[in-house]
Amino acid sequence: MARKIVAGNWKMNLLRDEAFSLVAEITGMLNDEESRPVKIILFPSFIHLGAIHQLVASDARIAVGAQNCSDKASGAYTGEVSAAMLSSYGCKYVLVGHSERRQYYGEDNVLLAEKINSILHAGMRPLYCVGEQLEERKSGKHFDVVRSQLEEGIFHLSPSAFGKCILAYEPVWAIGTGLTASPAEAQEMHAFIRQRIAEKYGQEAAENTSILYGGSCNDQNARELFSLPDVDGGLIGGASLKSRSFVNIVKALP
Ligand code: 13P
Repeated sequence: MARKIVAGNWKMNLLRDEAFSLVAEITGMLNDEESRPVKIILFPSFIHLGAIHQLVASDARIAVGAQNCSDKASGAYTGEVSAAMLSSYGCKYVLVGHSERRQYYGEDNVLLAEKINSILHAGMRPLYCVGEQLEERKSGKHFDVVRSQLEEGIFHLSPSAFGKCILAYEPVWAIGTGLTASPAEAQEMHAFIRQRIAEKYGQEAAENTSILYGGSCNDQNARELFSLPDVDGGLIGGASLKSRSFVNIVKALP
């Protein structure tokens, strides 16, 4: 069975004290309201990552991840942050292939495959995002786009390396727009992704891979999305910046 996970991608939001307060509020609410051993990953910006890790280090429910990392191991790459540096600050996961990185920073599947290798080499787990643009869906190309993102970005991995990865389906047209994929659209694509994994790595690997949904997921729609057979939780943007909505989404895990 795939592990159920709720991840909060804070993107380029929250100043230092805001970030610390958010974590304190989330852990307080979880202590009061959630007795299950839920799995939560918080993705703050690089600069808060070490401090946030220290705040949650003793909390088995919460891990910290980075929103990006370099594809290079070390050296003269001004402004970059390596996977090994992240790991040395307690980071356990790294987002790769988020549509904002693909769209605004020109990151393609070839580069993303390199990043995934670096993350695994440093002993962390990649959370690899796939998803189509609105035009691609309208023209019926959404399955082809996601298939290529899988084949070119992550299917080069060995079965054991792939087993360390988490996937997220984030339709680009649903990110930050308030337009959520319908349960039928989400389930259809998640099942498609799981089927591609089964063809490449076998049925057991496919069943064990967590595939999260992202894109305007909030505390109103999370329960329905998380109840879908192939949705194993959520990758939350805007609604992860408010403790009440984020904890409600965590509580919506089945
Ligand atoms: P929103 O939840 O704000 O739509 O963002 C989703 C996302 O991009 C998470 O990575």
